[in-house]
Amino acid sequence: MIVTIDGPAGTGKSTVARILASRLGFAFLNTGAMYRAVAYACLRQDIAFEDQEAVGNVPQFLEILFSNNRLFLNGEDVTEAIRGQEVTQAASLVAANERVRQRLVELQRIVAHGVDLVTEGRDQGTVVFPDAECKFFLTASAEERARRRQRELRDKGDFVSLDDLMNQQELRDLRDETRACSPLKPAVDAAIIDTTAMSLEAVAGHLEAMILQRNVAARTR
Ligand code: C5P
Repeated sequence: MIVTIDGPAGTGKSTVARILASRLGFAFLNTGAMYRAVAYACLRQDIAFEDQEAVGNVPQFLEILFSNNRLFLNGEDVTEAIRGQEVTQAASLVAANERVRQRLVELQRIVAHGVDLVTEGRDQGTVVFPDAECKFFLTASAEERARRRQRELRDKGDFVSLDDLMNQQELRDLRDETRACSPLKPAVDAAIIDTTAMSLEAVAGHLEAMILQRNVAARTR
């Protein structure tokens, strides 16, 4: 079974997906980390983000591997390095590149082959796994999303003002929603969940109950 969780930044997708996968005994895939890894590689190689040809070539030379909740890029553990501010903004630039998307979608489908999976991103229910059995789209107010990001950064010792984070978030949302290939939008058959006033544990519990209910209904049909 494939469960997709899409939505904009800061809606709790990756935390919820991780909790849900562990409760269901499913594998977990964080596709945002893959775009971040490509952005990190571009920054490392000094590739200009306007150079679409060069950006499109980058994934060919990358081995992206998840192991024990860590991400390895050509053997280097980049789990923390890809969470910084510069990579975060750059990720939405490389994510608009069609060839980068093609390659990462291919890898995502390979990961999903033959396993039960909870996968999160922007296009999992719309483009990558259109036949997924359970699809969710998480939302939250812009202020709550920026607060969550602020807490994540503060936990790493990085203080960024809420205003700056709201501005960066707005730019990232705009890029993700308006790009030509695989723009961020809910799948027509996704359940839309507003997480603004919920703890992420509660969101995971809610999704789990919906999946179990759905499975019971499918078995009794
Ligand atoms: O989810 P996260 O914030 O880590 O994603 C980083 C960026 O990667 C997003 O802003 C988006 O541009 C891109 N992304 C995407 N498609 C996905 C996952 C992430 O375009 N499936």
